[in-house]
Amino acid sequence: MEYIGNKEYWDEKFSNRSDKPLSPEKSLVENINCFKKGSVLDIACGDGRNTLFLIESGFEVTGVDFSDKALARLKMFSKRSNYFVTTKQIDLSFPNSLRNVGIFDNILINHYKLNKDQLIELQNHINDDGILFVSGFGSKHKVDSKIRKEDLIQSIDFEDINNSFELFKYIENQDIRGFFVTYIFRRKKLI
Ligand SMILES: C[S@@+](CC[C@H](N)C(=O)[O-])C[C@H]1O[C@@H](n2cnc3c(N)ncnc32)[C@H](O)[C@@H]1O
Repeated sequence: MEYIGNKEYWDEKFSNRSDKPLSPEKSLVENINCFKKGSVLDIACGDGRNTLFLIESGFEVTGVDFSDKALARLKMFSKRSNYFVTTKQIDLSFPNSLRNVGIFDNILINHYKLNKDQLIELQNHINDDGILFVSGFGSKHKVDSKIRKEDLIQSIDFEDINNSFELFKYIENQDIRGFFVTYIFRRKKLI
């Protein structure tokens, strides 16, 4: 599945950004207390506005994205602040692309959509009681040429992960940019 744009689109977008990171996602900042202490996998991290916030909040963070321009910026921002970050260049459109990524205490997916098989696969990359935090444009967001209907997050996207994750918080927000949702899941304990 292709989310919004291809690699060239995103490389160009990141090449044209200023030399400052954007602010972290509001719902992540407001709900950081839901995260489990330890490590975070930031899926489709971009140039790392959320990765940097997570590092500042005491987490050990791995950011993955297919844009080398985005990852280079994240490394530059991290170096500037003396932060340690792990980055991996991964194209998430390939099946099993997360296979070797490791196991984390938390997984963040902000403004990116994994397909249903990839969401199921996340259970193998998160510790017991780990947090899966998914946020982005929700189903009531107005679609346009950039944000298509299939990019919007809906509860049905998560119907196959009920066995391994429990939803413990759902948030809706609306502002001038559109309609946003946040789903916060906890990995069920393996028995
Ligand atoms: C809307 S941005 C979100 C970036 C970041 N999560 C944030 O909240 O600022 C979408 C990100 O997905 C990445 N992306 C898009 N398609 C991808 C793919 N097939 N594999 C890996 N990353 C991809 C882009 O490079 C971009 O960084």
